[in-house]
Amino acid sequence: MVNTYQLEVVESTNKKDKPLHDQVPFGTIFTDHMFTLEYEEGKGWHEPKIVPYGPITLDPAAMIFHYGQTVFEGMKAYRTEDGRVLLFRPEKNFERLNLSSERLSIPPVDEKAMLEYLTELIKLEKNWVPATQGTSLYIRPFIISTEANLAVAPAKAYKLMIILSPVGSYFTGGLTPVIIHVEDQFTRAVKGGTGMAKTAGNYSSGYQAQANAKKAGNADVLWLDGIEKKYIEEVGSMNIFFKINGEIVTPALNGSILNGITRTSIIELLGSWGISVAQRKVSVNEIYEAYEAGQLEEVFGTGTAAVISPVGELNWQGKKMVVNNHQIGELSQKLYDTITGIQTGKVEDPLGWTV
Ligand code: COI
Repeated sequence: MVNTYQLEVVESTNKKDKPLHDQVPFGTIFTDHMFTLEYEEGKGWHEPKIVPYGPITLDPAAMIFHYGQTVFEGMKAYRTEDGRVLLFRPEKNFERLNLSSERLSIPPVDEKAMLEYLTELIKLEKNWVPATQGTSLYIRPFIISTEANLAVAPAKAYKLMIILSPVGSYFTGGLTPVIIHVEDQFTRAVKGGTGMAKTAGNYSSGYQAQANAKKAGNADVLWLDGIEKKYIEEVGSMNIFFKINGEIVTPALNGSILNGITRTSIIELLGSWGISVAQRKVSVNEIYEAYEAGQLEEVFGTGTAAVISPVGELNWQGKKMVVNNHQIGELSQKLYDTITGIQTGKVEDPLGWTV
């Protein structure tokens, strides 16, 4: 163990039944155990434990409830055909957890120790990693501020937890292309804000727009920049890519877009195939013009939860852009097959991503 503190494991004596099929809604079933780690000023991160999954007790004045000082991550464990369990670039998640923490004034964790703790948790819960096509064990590490104090200042105490949830596809309908509303009223993030961090407020502040979009038949919203409402940012649950007249384009990271690990992996994978991705400002006007010219060939989202989610329609200011006749595009399908193939050990992993 890298950490000076010994991992304590308390095994559950009351194991749950596993879901009988893989059609459970995303993130609604949790495994038998969870990992916990405490932080106190002067003591640092300490007391790593794996304990039976269950509720925790917090003081009503715990700072998380008042000012939302919290960060999280999303990663997955995959089952291979020969029964092994693989993680996909897990070191990147703990690296990003620390970047999000820095933005939220939360003390950093030891990334190597976290990977060891996670490995122990996954070993204990290995029977929860589902095996059917398109399924995995979603891993949700998160940190909350626990100090009881109403002062508007960084807390002096935190709790880090890792919970696990067997999942199928994020959007109901699996690989069926989703309908997305291009949001031009509400804003997700602005330059200088917290858009690049995985923190709760970035998500809950989008619910109102999401609810409006869903009422109109859309699965989610595509956010535009917060100032001009002109440039495309991300969907919130995923980054976004366009294939326009043969060229692959994705919005450049600008401080308000999440630096997705699947996004990076897709750019690197395409690069290994000799296909470059233009990372630049992409205006919604440009997408509409490409659509009108018949050049908007494919649109897809990338994310840990979303994997590769094809987009079949974009709705913007009452204008409908139907992409590839609501069918999954050739490139989206190839990327989905390759990335899920690497993640589940079916396809060679030339870039050494799985652990
Ligand atoms: C993920 O892809 O893991 C995410 O965190 C996106 C979403 C489920 C919040």
